[in-house]
Amino acid sequence: MKKILSLLAALVFTQAQAKELDKYDCGQHYCRIPGNKSSGIFRDVLIKKIFDERAFKSGAGADYEFSFPQENQEFTSFQGQMNFAELRSFFPIFKTQSKGNSLTYLDSGATAQMPQSVIDEIVAYYATYKSNVGRGMYEFAEHATSKFEEARVKVARFIGAKKEEIVFTSGATASINLAAHIWADCHIGAGDEIIVSEVEHNANFIPWQQLALKKGAVLKRVPLSDKGVVEVETLKQYLCKKTKLVAITQQSNILGTISDIAGIVSAAHAVGAKVLVDGAQSIVHRKIDVKALDCDFFAFSAHKLFGPTGVGVLYIKQAIFDQCQLCNFGGGMVYSVSPEVTEFKGMPHRLEPGTQPIAQVIGLGAAIDFIEKNINFEQAQEHETALVLKLATALQEIPGVTIISPVPGLGEHNSMVTFTSDTIHAYDIAEYLSERNVAVRAGFHCAQLYHDKLGGNATVRASFTFYNTFDEVDFLIECLKKLLLV
Ligand SMILES: Cc1ncc(COP(=O)(O)O)c(C=O)c1O
Repeated sequence: MKKILSLLAALVFTQAQAKELDKYDCGQHYCRIPGNKSSGIFRDVLIKKIFDERAFKSGAGADYEFSFPQENQEFTSFQGQMNFAELRSFFPIFKTQSKGNSLTYLDSGATAQMPQSVIDEIVAYYATYKSNVGRGMYEFAEHATSKFEEARVKVARFIGAKKEEIVFTSGATASINLAAHIWADCHIGAGDEIIVSEVEHNANFIPWQQLALKKGAVLKRVPLSDKGVVEVETLKQYLCKKTKLVAITQQSNILGTISDIAGIVSAAHAVGAKVLVDGAQSIVHRKIDVKALDCDFFAFSAHKLFGPTGVGVLYIKQAIFDQCQLCNFGGGMVYSVSPEVTEFKGMPHRLEPGTQPIAQVIGLGAAIDFIEKNINFEQAQEHETALVLKLATALQEIPGVTIISPVPGLGEHNSMVTFTSDTIHAYDIAEYLSERNVAVRAGFHCAQLYHDKLGGNATVRASFTFYNTFDEVDFLIECLKKLLLV
């Protein structure tokens, strides 16, 4: 009797767990469609086994085996001393040459290079277990599904979120657009207000401009302070009961400056507005904790984080799941379909219809592994700041050069130097440097409105990360002097 009771209790338990699993993890370990079971008992036993082990291990002799990372494991950055030269050697692109010059890559703000470990993970997927996720029931498809969901857990840990709050998209731009469609489209109406800053990337300006036009809402742009940041006190002057959304970049891609997101969120929440943070630049330079920031949405791309192109993340706070509508429809997001109605899966799968960027997501997981194993954000910041100071000091001595981005003072950080020359156009500077295999960004950096404020001229941006060296800065200075001092 006792045995029967405990078996019954186990079954009740597993049914509840199964519901949870279906809601959030359907496709993670178990790709059958609920309600279309081959054997209910077997399914329950299987699910219980999965929960008991908290790990999927394939059959005897199989090649695929891994431990599923625990969500509650906190992300801890590397605690040792970073060896910058050794770390650089992990990036194969730095072994390339062009026109007799090794690569001086000063455009990580546009996209960061990938270490071999990330490339290897992506190649392994294509070479050894390419399959679709959330549907295949053969062994290596299960493995692909597990790797994909494992990456979601890694991202969640990386930014202090829950895995259900992590939606994969094709990049930061797609993430912001997704937030506009699933939330803003049904919560912002005529006369409501949206606030952005004057330094937003097009990706975090145009979606709101277009939404405001469509809805008859008002779009306001908060000016930056002299320090190049959005001051909370200034923002407060723009906030009112009509404000429904504040969409703000954490780190400017032109200035490199960081705004106080926690302060902005608290001020916006005080008037009932939601906050979307464009973390495309900040994600790579500092530890992000979405719970501490208390933002409602957080968007970023993998490719600026030493991962591949074609994948990004939209964090959506669980408390607002119920406020989000669906906007893209297709396979993989549903439990059941009838001619009249469709029953959708829970978050986040209901926002990920169709075949996902599988290799890219797995690559993003590997990039986070790389960061966790090798990068200490404080040390990387110090290194980047030293490179910025060296370049800025040299540029200040070249007549006609104006530095647009703030030069960091004591205890401050910046990872980029943005500048113009009175005599030579930004495009010509970039082209000249390119001849010497030096890669910088020139133009409006997808933020034309701020450039209009600066006088409409294109700027040159040299952006740094931990793999950049003082020799690279020396070479850039040497090239710039040759060009600008004649
Ligand atoms: C601040 C900022 N936001 C958004 C984006 C858009 O990112 P993606 O092109 O990866 O979608 C960028 C890219 O440069 C950026 O710097």
